[in-house]
Amino acid sequence: VRDRANPWRPAWLEIDLDAVAHNVTSLRTHVGSEVRMYFVVKAMGYGHGAAETAAAALGAGVDGLCVVTVEEARALREAGLTCPILLAGGLLPEEAPEIVGLGVKAVVYNEDMAQALSREALQCGRVVDVHLKVDTGMGRFGVPWDSSVGLGMRIRDLRGLKLEGLMTHFAMSDHHDKEFTRLQTRRFRHALDAFDEHGVRFEFVHAANTGAILDLPETHFNMVRPGLAVYGVYPSPYVTRDVVLKPALSLKARVVSLKRLPKGHTVSYGRRYTCGDDEWIGVLPIGYHDGYRRQLGNRGRVLQPSGGALPVVGGVAMDATMVRIEDPAAVGLGQELVLLGTTGTDTIDVHEIADLADTVSYDILCGFSPRLPRVYLREGKVWKVVSTCGTVSFDDSDDGVAADVGQGRGCDGAGGAVGPSGIRNGERATHGVLAGRRDTPGERDSRERA
Ligand SMILES: Cc1ncc(COP(=O)(O)O)c(C=O)c1O
Repeated sequence: VRDRANPWRPAWLEIDLDAVAHNVTSLRTHVGSEVRMYFVVKAMGYGHGAAETAAAALGAGVDGLCVVTVEEARALREAGLTCPILLAGGLLPEEAPEIVGLGVKAVVYNEDMAQALSREALQCGRVVDVHLKVDTGMGRFGVPWDSSVGLGMRIRDLRGLKLEGLMTHFAMSDHHDKEFTRLQTRRFRHALDAFDEHGVRFEFVHAANTGAILDLPETHFNMVRPGLAVYGVYPSPYVTRDVVLKPALSLKARVVSLKRLPKGHTVSYGRRYTCGDDEWIGVLPIGYHDGYRRQLGNRGRVLQPSGGALPVVGGVAMDATMVRIEDPAAVGLGQELVLLGTTGTDTIDVHEIADLADTVSYDILCGFSPRLPRVYLREGKVWKVVSTCGTVSFDDSDDGVAADVGQGRGCDGAGGAVGPSGIRNGERATHGVLAGRRDTPGERDSRERA
């Protein structure tokens, strides 16, 4: 019972790019026009897709992007993004040639890396912008705050490098007690003052992640690095919600099996659920491989579009999740259900899932695997679908004829990428929604009920 409007696998993520743009605008109003914003799109854009969310955010006014691996930076360049990119993760000297080749800025926190970048830059006749990372309490990357000047001065003197930025990272800015973040900020200022005394000024000074951006304006300096907020999620219940954010991501799946099990029958691996009566059990084709966590077995819930929630029953398997359906007339085979997101007045937010899975929202978001197609919406319409088999773009301007299929990761082996409906890379889709035609709500409804 697959609707032509959903030509992808019947379990998918929907990403509202207008929400991303909205969140950038809200954050811009909050931080002001003088503060640069570099949007963190590491880890596949926290599961949302890096290039697509980056493009939406750049369109709404972020100044640059942050990633942590060279591969992430390369993927953004290959997607055609020419904006400033700061490579802010842990790097080894052997990665210097590619960093220089990609024309990205790099975080440095030791001499070996700085020297490798300098050598490579000189060889290529380029100048690499580097940001010195200072450890003010995270205990991870960074040169200790109270002894950062020596390294900073040596890096400043290396040819081929421009010591452009000073940065630190907060360990608990979303905590209810902001004292440690304030201490980290004082240490950062101390380092900044020490550089100042040695005549070293930085064009970029940055520390704040989402929690600090929302709660501690004194941490904004002249640049901020929001990740979670741009995806529309507050990091914890303790941060102020004056800046209005809209979650960009929903997780949906359709019922692919529906049957009545007799009282006493058990459900799924481990037989952790027993039907208390004769019960209708629906199967959703999504499991822990997709990032729908095992801990949601017998604990999670999913939403019906008509309102009301259905309990997840039995263990979540690798590819299947079972729900108890009270009214099979309302939730039939093919029915779309919401596992994360909003229907009517009810919302399952990422914190609800994270709490049940005993983890944090970040872990849930970036844990959605590439096997789940990413369906991008603009102005409420499907704009692009990215799946493991390729990318399909919908072009409304062409009045229903063109859809490009491209950049697949090759689910058909050597023969080139194939789109979700089997269209080969480079072909033009010429039918149904893949051809840009979208069903009217009435058409779609009637097929879903059928
Ligand atoms: C160095 C750095 N800056 C900024 C961020 C963004 O953090 P958040 O998503 O809380 O805004 C991260 C994410 O962990 C990070 O590693």
